[in-house]
Amino acid sequence: KLESHLRPQTLEDYIGQEKAKETLKVYIEAAKARKEPLDHVLFYGPPGLGKTTLAGIIANEMGVNMKVTSGPAIEKPGEMAAILNSLQENDVLFVDEIHRLNRQVEEVLYPAMEDYVIDIMIGKGSSARSIRLELPKFTLVGATTRAGMLTAPLRDRFGVVHRLEFYTPRELQTIVLRSAQVLEVEVELEAAMELARRSRGTPRLANRLLKRVRDFAQVKYDGCISKEAANYALDLLDVDKEGLDQTDREVLLTMIQRFSGGPVGLDTLAASVGEDSGTIEDVYEPFLLKNGWIQKTPRGRVVTERAYRHLGMEKE
Ligand code: ADE
Repeated sequence: KLESHLRPQTLEDYIGQEKAKETLKVYIEAAKARKEPLDHVLFYGPPGLGKTTLAGIIANEMGVNMKVTSGPAIEKPGEMAAILNSLQENDVLFVDEIHRLNRQVEEVLYPAMEDYVIDIMIGKGSSARSIRLELPKFTLVGATTRAGMLTAPLRDRFGVVHRLEFYTPRELQTIVLRSAQVLEVEVELEAAMELARRSRGTPRLANRLLKRVRDFAQVKYDGCISKEAANYALDLLDVDKEGLDQTDREVLLTMIQRFSGGPVGLDTLAASVGEDSGTIEDVYEPFLLKNGWIQKTPRGRVVTERAYRHLGMEKE
């Protein structure tokens, strides 16, 4: 079964993000009744929480097609113009990592988002002039891990902005049970909860772990994902009981051992751990902050008592 089969196709089947879901449902119904495109939507938050999935659901619920691209994939204004021009009325254009669009490409989006037009420069020097090209009406769905990295003019052109939240273990358990059904594998309720607890609040990770645990259940057990099989596999996969992975623990250990628990700046920490600072900021830090493993202070990140205790370290 393909990855895409695990993705829900409708708001009805989508678990979690209740606030986004409830409001989007209203906006979609209203736009459809008016036979208009949905207003432009921006999703932001850590990776794996369902930004792409929600974009697909929006297109599906609106009954339109979705084109997918990403910030770094579009290098020239002309490429963006071509994509916009290829859309059909009310289509969704999904731009992942939208904060990585270069400035010139981004500027094509301003009039496109506002008035569904693009201005194209013709000729050079004193004979240069610009002509307006009308576009089909469309919905831009942008996704970014960092809303703070968007320029104000771009951010201001989104009528709907949602921060996606980490999922609760209960929500993830439901997602795991749903995915297990799609994958046609038997899973005990408690095993699903164990997977849920150890998935850093992230459906993408829960689904990935489910597949790996399924392999262990198949080869080392009788095929059913029991609590025992799940625990065995998850321990081997180096996801601990609190859902911290190797890098999470390395970040915390580095902060404790090399920086006396902090405060330490992001770049210093990243260099010390040997990870890209953007990855630490987008992927690791939000989870560690949310679950009370670290805190942000004006002078940098500090490790909490909880982290010391979990890692069996003494605060000197
Ligand atoms: N699979 C991945 N994310 C999901 C979600 N939020 N709801 C249901 N299934 C999912």
